[in-house]
Amino acid sequence: MLLRIFAFLITEAIASFLRVETGHRSIEIDGRDPYYGHYTRVVFTDQTCIRAVTIHCLVPLTGAEEIDLLYTNCENGQWRVAHYNNKEERFYLKEQIQAKQLSVTSRIPLSIVDLQVEPCSPGTFKQADPLEKHSFHLNNSPYQMTENLTIEKDEFASIEAGVQLFFPPNTGIFVYGTLYINGTDKKPVYLEAIDEKKPWIGMIISSETPSTFSYLNLSGSVYGITVKNSPAFPIFDHVVADSNQNGFTFDVDESIGSDETPIRVYKTSAVNSLQNGFTINGKVEN
Ligand SMILES: *[C@@H]1O[C@H](CO)[C@@H](O)[C@H](O)[C@H]1NC(C)=O
Ligand SMILES: *[C@@H]1O[C@H](CO)[C@@H](O)[C@H](O)[C@H]1NC(C)=O
Ligand SMILES: *[C@@H]1O[C@H](CO)[C@@H](O)[C@H](O)[C@H]1NC(C)=O
Repeated sequence: MLLRIFAFLITEAIASFLRVETGHRSIEIDGRDPYYGHYTRVVFTDQTCIRAVTIHCLVPLTGAEEIDLLYTNCENGQWRVAHYNNKEERFYLKEQIQAKQLSVTSRIPLSIVDLQVEPCSPGTFKQADPLEKHSFHLNNSPYQMTENLTIEKDEFASIEAGVQLFFPPNTGIFVYGTLYINGTDKKPVYLEAIDEKKPWIGMIISSETPSTFSYLNLSGSVYGITVKNSPAFPIFDHVVADSNQNGFTFDVDESIGSDETPIRVYKTSAVNSLQNGFTINGKVEN
C-alpha cells in the first residue's frame, strides 16, 4: 500500500523528471580542454528518448552562448556529448538520444528557469518544476537556522505544515524567487527567534513570482514580513505577525494591485507589535 502511494505521488508531482540539480564543477569533454562550468542537470524517472530541448533562461538565450548538452544512458553512465543545431533557446539534436540524465553546461551561469524536453515520439512537451532550493519537512522539524535562507530568482522553497524554523539574530529569509508556506488550520508554520530577547531579521520579499503564505505565525523579528521592490505580491492567508518590532510593511506602487498583480491578504493580523503593526507605503490605483 505504501509503495503504491509513493509511486502515485512521484508521477503526480513531477511527471517524467525525477529531480533537477544545479552546481558548478570542472567539465571534461573528450578532445577538449576541461573547463570550470555551471550545470543544470535533469534526472529522468525512466530512460527518455529526446529529440529537442528548449532552455528558458531569465535572460532569453540569443543562440550565441556556448552551451554543451551532455547526457548519460543510465544513472551512473559515462557522460556523452549531444550535438545540436540551435536557434535562440531551442536546441534540436542532430541525433536522437536515450537519456537517463541530461546536463546543460556552460562557462557562464545561465539562470535557467525551466527546461522543456521534446520526446522522440510525437507528444506534448514536459515541463520541469522551477529549481527547488529547499523543502522543510515536519519529520526534521524544528529547524535551527544558522544562516540566511535566500531563495534566488529562479528557485523555490517550501515549508510543510507544522514545521518550526528558529532563527538567531542577524539571519532572516530573503525571497527573490518563490516561497510556499503550507501551514494548515491544525498545523500552522512557525518562524521564530531562537532567543526571544534577540530579534531575528524577519522575511523580506522582492520577487517577480508570487509566493503563498498559509497559516503562518512569524514572531520575534525586526522587520516581520516586508514586501518591497516586488513586482509580484505574495498571497497571505491566515498569517499572524506576533511580537515583532514591525509586523507587516508593504511598499506598493502603481504596478501592484492591477488585475495581473492583485493584492490578496486574507485573515491576516499583526499583534503585540513593538513599533508598527501594518505600514503600507505608496499608492494603489483605483
Ligand atoms: C543575512 O543577510 C543580511 C542582509 O543581507 C546581512 O546583513 C547578514 O549579515 C546576513 N547574515 C548572515 C549570518 O550571513
Ligand atoms: C507546498 O505547496 C506547494 C504549492 O501547492 C507545493 O508545490 C509544494 O510541494 C508544497 N511543499 C510542501 C513541503 O508541502
Ligand atoms: C505565535 O507564535 C509565538 C511563538 O511560538 C507564540 O508565543 C504566540 O502565542 C503565537 N501567536 C498566535 C497569535 O498564535
